[in-house]
Amino acid sequence: MTRKELLLSTIKGGIHRRKPVWLMRQAGRFLPSYRALRKRYDFLTLCTTPELASEVTLLPLYELDVDVLVLFSDILIPLKAVGVDIFYSDGRMPQVVGINLSNLNYERDTSSLSFVEDTIRLVKQAEPDMPLVGFAAAPFTLACYLFDSGSDFSSIRSFIYNYPERFTELMEELSLLTLDYLKLQARAGCDAVQLFDTWVGVLPRGIYAEFVHEFNRRIISGLGNIPSIYYARSATHLMDLIITLDADCFGVDWREDVVDVHRRTGKCVQGNLDNALLLSSKDSVIKATGDLLEKTLNLPHIVNLGHGVLPESSPDLARALIDTVHSF
Ligand code: CP3
Repeated sequence: MTRKELLLSTIKGGIHRRKPVWLMRQAGRFLPSYRALRKRYDFLTLCTTPELASEVTLLPLYELDVDVLVLFSDILIPLKAVGVDIFYSDGRMPQVVGINLSNLNYERDTSSLSFVEDTIRLVKQAEPDMPLVGFAAAPFTLACYLFDSGSDFSSIRSFIYNYPERFTELMEELSLLTLDYLKLQARAGCDAVQLFDTWVGVLPRGIYAEFVHEFNRRIISGLGNIPSIYYARSATHLMDLIITLDADCFGVDWREDVVDVHRRTGKCVQGNLDNALLLSSKDSVIKATGDLLEKTLNLPHIVNLGHGVLPESSPDLARALIDTVHSF
């Protein structure tokens, strides 16, 4: 069985003793080889130049032996299709300029994202048997970056109370953009797509239910038979709503019990080792990974962290995690 077959079978509910493993944010930040490239090119150049983006996408295969590739890009990149400018400064929240919240009838022009399609084709040419996962932010998480961010996103939360219709229009626009963008990735060769809902947990339950859930639902349902993973962080209070989404797999953060999420959904689960483990010791990593594999022996499970690799993480510990899965 190729690694691509293993991932696709697992996402659709197949149970394998040898679980597929990858790490959210595996390609960037913590890899010395990535940092070396970043000395020569700025982040947006890496994302928008297919030869470079495909090279970075492949780094974690050659250096860590991951079972799954994830497209090298960022969640804000699709905003380029609606004429918004994006700025990154080291380690800080990215900024966007040029969004007009009172006129959201964008001309969506995904032809401006052809570099993403070219990147996907180059990765697929280099490693045809490796599964490639595309991704986008879920619409609320994307919207968070359109407001002055701050750690608790109070400006977007107050916007919902002050301008509920405009917020709903914003969700509508962003979810159409996101769905177009994910379909583009699948057409170009991505085998599955992941929707990152990193910030959804800042919302009260009632607001999520009334203003956001429907747009997640439309995107996931709009994907049709494209294999999908929905990931939310710090969202225990929303879990009973989230699991009604039609995703093939639920990515869960380290606060949840993966076995419980599987029991409640009957579906594939992804996660959920504490990302702080990669700041600890080899013994701790091997033990935690082994314990997780014991727990999920009889269920469809993609091994991953509960959130992205932290920049200070040790590549050796990432390698120990992956080797533990491969030798289990
Ligand atoms: O790291 C990878 O494996 C590459 C793919 C990837 C990036 N961003 C590259 C990136 C992925 C999957 C993302 C998703 C992303 N981006 C999320 C969702 C996942 C998560 O971690 O919750 C979010 C919330 C973002 C937004 C974002 N992008 C922030 C907050 C930052 C600055 C802080 C940071 O992560 O360094 C970015 C910049 C960014 N995106 C970098 C990388 C490699 C660092 C840019 C650099 O090299 O200087």
